[in-house]
Amino acid sequence: MFKDQELKEKVILVTGGGTGLGKSMSRYFLTLGAKVIIASRKQEVLDATVKELTEETGGEIIGVVCDVRKPLEIEALIEEGIKKFGEINVLVNNAAGNFISPTERLSPKAFDIIVDIVLKGSYNCSLLLGKYWIKEKISATMLNIVTTYSWTGSGYVVPSAVAKAGVLSLTRSLGAEWAKYCIRTNAIAPGPFPTQGAFSRLFPEGLKEKIDPLKRIPLNRYGDHQELANLAAYLVSDFSSYVNGEVVTIDGGEWLYNAGEFTGLDAVPGEMWDYIEKEIRGKKK
Ligand code: HXC
Ligand code: NAP
Repeated sequence: MFKDQELKEKVILVTGGGTGLGKSMSRYFLTLGAKVIIASRKQEVLDATVKELTEETGGEIIGVVCDVRKPLEIEALIEEGIKKFGEINVLVNNAAGNFISPTERLSPKAFDIIVDIVLKGSYNCSLLLGKYWIKEKISATMLNIVTTYSWTGSGYVVPSAVAKAGVLSLTRSLGAEWAKYCIRTNAIAPGPFPTQGAFSRLFPEGLKEKIDPLKRIPLNRYGDHQELANLAAYLVSDFSSYVNGEVVTIDGGEWLYNAGEFTGLDAVPGEMWDYIEKEIRGKKK
């Protein structure tokens, strides 16, 4: 679908764009001709990513320090983006915080920190950009990065699950409400994609022997960053102009595989099925 400069009219703000999946999406957006603004809390991380992606793609990208929990910093970020590129017409709510912990070990502050980054950060950015888009009559697109446990919930990451469920609801709610302003809102729900940020906090080395996340994925591999970037590029592009309020799962079949009552039967060796079938058929008599 994407052969050339398909995103050249887009100015895309990616929160948390200095690292991980945000960086990979930014790289592909630049390759497709978009102008990109990345925003997160650490200047040195942003500077390194801007340098790397500029050299690699030759595209136009700036990095702006912004804590998405702070509306005044988001306003300054939007102002800086507009000053540099004339307008902003895509927002990718990608910034997040997360770690595994039994819920009863969390302090209220630990719960807050995750919910504030993920949920408050996403609605702050959506609200402030939305106001600007509506005032300036700009056709725009929002893309929220959630997870598959946004709808299943998950133990041991409860603050993240609560917050991502809120972001999924934000996606559907604004998809319905702001379509009249030509603002589309969609979400991507990834399964595990190796990033330093996620894997160091969710799948630490010490746990590998007990829990192998690969065993949960029927395609038997992790997602490749480019696979997620392809989907993100589609959802922010005009190719998806009638897709709105939707969440697209990209997890190699992981969540359905683990929800299915009988997928554990994968463990039954092929030769045993003759015996099992005979036994079941035998019951008819
Ligand atoms: C229990 C913890 C903890 C832990 C921190 N806290 N780590 N509690 N177990 N492992 C508590 C602290 O004790 C403190 O509470 C409070 O949380 C704030 O911690 P700080 O370290 O002061 O916060 P800060 O330096 O701002 O760091 C925020 C962070 C950190 C969220 C804790 O991990 C971070 O910066 N993360 C950003 C990147 C990230 O997390 N990426 C992964 C996204 S992956 P008290 O009360 O003690 O003061 C993702 C994937 C989902 O979302 C799906 C995968 C399949
Ligand atoms: P990551 O590299 O840790 O990305 C998170 C980014 O958010 C970092 O760049 C971080 O930068 C930024 N951030 C955190 N707090 C912030 C704040 N208050 N203000 C602004 N920026 C902030 O992890 P990732 O794996 O790429 O995750 C990216 C997105 O994908 C997240 O939404 C995550 O939930 C989602 N996801 C990932 C996976 C996976 O397997 N990797 C699976 C499902 C969903 P600073 O700390 O420098 O601010």
